[in-house]
Amino acid sequence: MRIQLRRDLPESSQPQSQAKTYATVICLGNVKGGSGKSTTAMHIIVALLKMGRSVGFIDLDVRQQSLSRYVENRRQWAERENLTIPLPIERTVDASVLDSRKQGDAEERRKLLSAIAELRTICDFVVIDSPGSYTNLSRVAHANADLIITPMNDSFVDLDVIAKIDPQTYEVRGPSIYSQMIWDSRKLRAQSDRATIDWVLMRNRLSNLSSKNKKLMQEVLTRLAPRTGFRIAPGFGERVIYRELFLAGLTLLDLGEPGTDVPLTMSHLAARQELRELLTELNLPGLERELAAF
Ligand SMILES: Nc1ncnc2c1ncn2[C@@H]1O[C@H](COP(=O)(O)OP(=O)(O)O)[C@@H](O)[C@H]1O
Ligand SMILES: [Mg+2]
Repeated sequence: MRIQLRRDLPESSQPQSQAKTYATVICLGNVKGGSGKSTTAMHIIVALLKMGRSVGFIDLDVRQQSLSRYVENRRQWAERENLTIPLPIERTVDASVLDSRKQGDAEERRKLLSAIAELRTICDFVVIDSPGSYTNLSRVAHANADLIITPMNDSFVDLDVIAKIDPQTYEVRGPSIYSQMIWDSRKLRAQSDRATIDWVLMRNRLSNLSSKNKKLMQEVLTRLAPRTGFRIAPGFGERVIYRELFLAGLTLLDLGEPGTDVPLTMSHLAARQELRELLTELNLPGLERELAAF
């Protein structure tokens, strides 16, 4: 299949042509840091593993490495507890140290595409966690994903990277940096193998209380979704369980496993329900039966 290159974008962002006959590539993305990308990535990975799927992952946040560390903590926990549990397969892609930006970008692209291609053939799902900034590696990952999931905190500061909103009327004035990045990724992908990229936005750290801001955000997002081309998935509430088990490498899906002494609460059940609803909305291929029992 011939790949048509875009002249206005660096070579490093051009997508690789491939027929989607194997693993689904899921990219967690948002140019905003602290929005919940790594947390969501880990919960999706553990859920898929528990559904008996093989999962590969690439942590592109070379500075924080939160996802890699989360998984490493999980590996150590299993070792400590003498458990044989499925773990995701990691591939690393470092930022290039070449002096030439052009050559560096090309090198990064080559390495990332080769890591994705390899994981695609040996896993059912590939999860890529991206940094909260607009890097070359992040652009390549977005353009080669089948599904982009964008967690977003419930704040107009966070919405600002997705769309420009009129401060008086709350009308949508136009796209912002991140939705333009997705737009570019989609165009590139359509030109290369005519595949589409599904984009799902999920609200994160939602408060339990209903507030004016929460309602307003819901209204603005509902208006924005068809214009910007994303679907809205049910998000995660603000819950301690989403973060308290990081050091042990565990998630709410592991409660009750050896080494966890966190008593089950209503909030944990609600969190599990949130995760189930998110997975259902994502509509990942071949999980219908597992989701019904999840
Ligand atoms: N739903 C949630 N409830 C409570 N804490 C959360 C939730 N989602 C994320 N966090 C916490 O917020 C911080 C940022 O989340 P993280 O997943 O690292 O974001 P990102 O990868 O986008 O930078 C972390 O301390 C994480 O534990
Ligand atoms: Mg992160």
